[in-house]
Amino acid sequence: MSRPSSPYAPRPEEERQPIPDPAAPPFAPPAAQALLSDREISLIRASVAVVEPLAADMAVYFYAILFTRHPEVRPLFPPGMDAQRGRLLRALLRIVDLVDDPEGLVRFCGHLGRDHRKFGTLAAHFPAVGECLLASLARFAGPAWNAEIAAIWTKAYAAVAQVMMSAAEQDAAVRPATWPATVVHRLSRGHGIAEITVRPHLPYEYTAGQYVSLETPWWPKQWRYYSAANAPREDGTLTFHVRAVPGGTVSEALVHRAVVGDVLRLGPPMGDMVLDAATHRDLLCVAGGTGLAPIRALIEEVARRGGRHQVDLFLGARTGAELYGVDDMLRMAQRHHWLTLRGAVSHEHIPGIRGSLPQVLAEYGPWYQHDCFLSGPASMVASAGETLTLHGTLPDHIHHDPFETPVLSAR
Ligand SMILES: Cc1cc2nc3c(=O)[nH]c(=O)nc-3n(C[C@H](O)[C@H](O)[C@H](O)COP(=O)(O)OP(=O)(O)OC[C@H]3O[C@@H](n4cnc5c(N)ncnc54)[C@H](O)[C@@H]3O)c2cc1C
Ligand code: HEM
Repeated sequence: MSRPSSPYAPRPEEERQPIPDPAAPPFAPPAAQALLSDREISLIRASVAVVEPLAADMAVYFYAILFTRHPEVRPLFPPGMDAQRGRLLRALLRIVDLVDDPEGLVRFCGHLGRDHRKFGTLAAHFPAVGECLLASLARFAGPAWNAEIAAIWTKAYAAVAQVMMSAAEQDAAVRPATWPATVVHRLSRGHGIAEITVRPHLPYEYTAGQYVSLETPWWPKQWRYYSAANAPREDGTLTFHVRAVPGGTVSEALVHRAVVGDVLRLGPPMGDMVLDAATHRDLLCVAGGTGLAPIRALIEEVARRGGRHQVDLFLGARTGAELYGVDDMLRMAQRHHWLTLRGAVSHEHIPGIRGSLPQVLAEYGPWYQHDCFLSGPASMVASAGETLTLHGTLPDHIHHDPFETPVLSAR
């Protein structure tokens, strides 16, 4: 594959410096100004309304022409493209939603641009994607497409691409696109869960509670997110708790295939489920399954900061056997007087452990003066969130990771 050269191209990993603040890579957005006039906004939205019901077919067409006309970009994408097909369209819809909010647009596209570095995206690739995007819109919008709308889309795409490229270029000045990391420890936890500890080859700065996108050598280009289960350590290692999803590509490989010595690749840390240094509120933590990982990291962080918060931790599961991480958490609770641990099991009666998570939370509350961190299966996080809101917790005090493609949820 011949790769276009560009100032945007990543420099060799060895030359890079660690970023000063991993949670907020320095990126000065261009002056926020209205991108399109009101008339242009309504025209662009009208064209999206026409193609939206045809999104699945349009995505297939888009990638087909992209890979035929520009075969040089094909190696950037995974061999199987099912999941990705929907995401590009969803990103475009999000961008269209934001066209009258220049600051939101710059923030969203900045995230996208930085995130695209790990795919190997170069500035020279943007015209190819833009050309095929416009060709797809023209085909699927049919009679709703005309020269004026084509000109508006060209202007909008150019602005979005510019923000993505600038964000990526600024990011490239301060940190690598990816971090190779060697597996240094591996522990099977039963129930298809493994704890995998890696040591990045270059300094990797992150904040307790964040998650990391990860690529394995067995499934190149397939990036998945895993939360670090530890606060930053002096030796720089990170531990992930990975559950093998039946039939899952990357999780099965990590749990059943990875051994000490294997080299993975990490993308930049993401997520804002982190401790707010400015608040002294006590913490409510609710975890289910491997959702315990970021909560564990947060608890370690509280300990690192001298245990200034009271922490109430609830572990939820359907059955007692599925309660994950109890022994580890009991050991932490024995070490730290400020940590209280309770279990909640919804589908089994166990003496000493109460019923479903919402019941238990309601019983032990109120929590409206706490900062609440929820992590686990989407249904568990949603039901815990509803219970808390119902009992007076402000949405601003409820923190959880996005349920799916994080870059699409970035605010
Ligand atoms: C912010 C964030 C943090 C995450 N943190 C962790 C973590 O700490 N530990 C961890 O083990 N996982 C975590 N995940 C989930 C992880 O990113 C992968 O989605 C998961 O490991 C499945 O990837 P896969 O490649 O094995 O499955 P895929 O090959 O992507 O999917 C195979 C099949 O499994 C289904 N599937 C995918 N994910 C799940 C799931 N979670 N449960 C049930 N079915 C599923 C898919 O719909 C598909 O049908 C996190 C996800 C996000 C968004
Ligand atoms: C306006 C322009 C673009 C938008 C809105 C966009 C949007 C997206 C989104 C939302 C994702 C999913 C991210 C994730 O899963 O974390 C994605 C993935 C990806 N994008 Fe883009 N993108 C754009 C331009 C480009 C360009 C120019 C390239 C280079 C050819 C590119 C290559 C990729 C690759 C390789 C992936 C990963 C695919 C996968 O994991 O399945 N994108 N893009």
